[in-house]
Amino acid sequence: FYCRFHPNMRGTLTVTGGSGGTHGGKLKFRLPLAVPQTLSGDHVRLDMRRTAVRMLPDGRKTQAWTYGGSWPGPTIRRPSGHRTLVTVANHLPREAGSMSMHLHGDHHASEHDGQPTTFLIPRGGARTYRYDLTDDGKPEPGSFFWYHDHRMDHTARNNWMGLQGMFIVDDPAEAKLRLPTGGRDVPLMISDRSFTRRNQLVPPHEPDMRMDHRDMGHRDMGHHDMDMGTGYTGPHAPPNDATVGTQILVNGRFAPHLRTSAVHYRLRLLNSSSFSSYDLTLSDGRPFVQIGTGDGLLPKPVVRQSILLGPSQRADVVVDFHGESGQNVVLQTVPRTDSDTGTGSRVGQLMQFRVRGDAKDRTRVPATLPTPELVDAPGEISMTWDFSLEGDAETGTYWAINGQAYDPDRVDHTVQLGSTETWLLRNTSEVTHYVHIHEEQWRTVSRNGAKPPPWEQGLEDTWKLDPGEEVVVAARFTDWTGPFMIHCHMLDHEDHGMMATFEVVP
Ligand code: C2O
Ligand code: CU
Repeated sequence: FYCRFHPNMRGTLTVTGGSGGTHGGKLKFRLPLAVPQTLSGDHVRLDMRRTAVRMLPDGRKTQAWTYGGSWPGPTIRRPSGHRTLVTVANHLPREAGSMSMHLHGDHHASEHDGQPTTFLIPRGGARTYRYDLTDDGKPEPGSFFWYHDHRMDHTARNNWMGLQGMFIVDDPAEAKLRLPTGGRDVPLMISDRSFTRRNQLVPPHEPDMRMDHRDMGHRDMGHHDMDMGTGYTGPHAPPNDATVGTQILVNGRFAPHLRTSAVHYRLRLLNSSSFSSYDLTLSDGRPFVQIGTGDGLLPKPVVRQSILLGPSQRADVVVDFHGESGQNVVLQTVPRTDSDTGTGSRVGQLMQFRVRGDAKDRTRVPATLPTPELVDAPGEISMTWDFSLEGDAETGTYWAINGQAYDPDRVDHTVQLGSTETWLLRNTSEVTHYVHIHEEQWRTVSRNGAKPPPWEQGLEDTWKLDPGEEVVVAARFTDWTGPFMIHCHMLDHEDHGMMATFEVVP
C-alpha cells in the first residue's frame, strides 16, 4: 500500500501560540485591513505568480503564490446572468506544477469546474474558464463565491500558498433591499497560516508525490504535467495531517483593523482555511444578523450571537454599529467544545473595527428576504455518501467516501440531467467533516431527521457533519453534463482520499 494517505486518526489538531498568535502581548491591530481590488469586466485575467505579500505587521513580506499579485486575489464582482470569462495563466515556480481553478459554489460546465486531474493549467500555459452565472436559463441568485486551486493531491498546499480569491455575484433583486453597499459591503476571508522566523510560510505537509503513478499525467488529456512527478521538495511541517496555522489572518493580514462609521455594515465572511473552523463573535456581545449563506439570501434574517464557519463555509451578515462611535469592536473566535472530535474551533482575535463618527445611513434589513427558490420536498434517497476512515495502522489508513479513496478514473454515482436528486450525507468516522458538493446549490432537507436550523434554510453547498450525523440534501441538476466532485473541504482529508466523482449524463 502506498504511503499516499496518512490521515490523522483524531485529535492531532495541535496549535501552538494559542490565542491566534498574539506574540505574547496585547494585540494592537496595527495593519489596515487589505480590501482586494475589485475586477468587474466580462473578461478577467489572473496571472498566477510568486509574489511578496504583506501578511505580518513587522519584518519581511511573505512569499506567496498568488492570483494576480495579492492574497486574497482580486475580488471578481459581476451581475448575475452575465457571462464571465476568467483567463488564468500559470507563471508559478517549477515545484508548483500544473494548477486547476475551481469557482466554489457556482454552477457551470464540467470542463470549467477546475477538475482535479484534467483541463489543467500547465506551467507557462493559461486556461480560460467560462461562467455564465445562470441556472436553468435564469440568472443565478446573488452569491458570495470564492475561487481556489483544486489540483489533485495538492489542494491543501496550493491554497496554503495563497491561491484563493473571492467572487461576488450581484442580483438586481438585492439592489432594491437597501442593504449596505460600496465601502460598507466588505468581503472578509479568514485563513490561518504558520510562519518561519523570517516571516515565510511554513511549508505545508503533503503526500509524497513520488509514490503516486496517477499524478504523472496520463489522465491529463494532453495537458501533461511531468514536473509534478518530482513532488514538493521543501522541508515538511511537523508530521500531522492537519494543515493548521498558528496565526489567523483576515484578508491575508494578521490582526488588521478597519475604520468604520457608526452605521450598518454588510460583512461577507468566508473561512478559506484548510482545516480550522472558527466560532465567530463580536467582542461587545453585539449580534450578527445573518441574511445569506454564500449561495443566496435566507428566507428571513437570523439574529446570531455566534457563527461557526468550517472550511469553505460562508455567512453573509449585517452588523449594526449605530451609537458606537469611539468604540473598538473586535471580531473574534471562541473555543467550541460541543463535540469531542479533535476539530473544535480556534481561539483568537481576528480583526478590529474602529468605529469613528456617525454618518447618514439609509440601510435597513427587511423582515423577509427574496430567497432563491428551493426544490420541492423530495422523495426517496437516491444516493448515500458515507464519510469514513478506512484501512488500519499496518496497511495504512486513508479517508474514504463509501469505503473508497478518491480515484479520478472511477465514477461513483450517475445523475440524469434534469432530475432531482436527494442525497444522504452520513459521517461514519470519529471526527467532524465539512462536506462540499460541486455544481448545484442544495436545499437542506433535514439534519438528523429534524428540520435544519434557520441559517440552513437557504441554499447551501458545504455542511458540517459531526460524527454520526446525517444530513439530507436535494437539488435539481440542470444545464451541464460531465463529472463533478463531492468531497470533504478539510483540504487534508480531500488530498488524502476523501473525494468522489458523480457524473451528470444526458
Ligand atoms: Cu471549494 Cu471542491 O471545492
Ligand atoms: Cu473531513
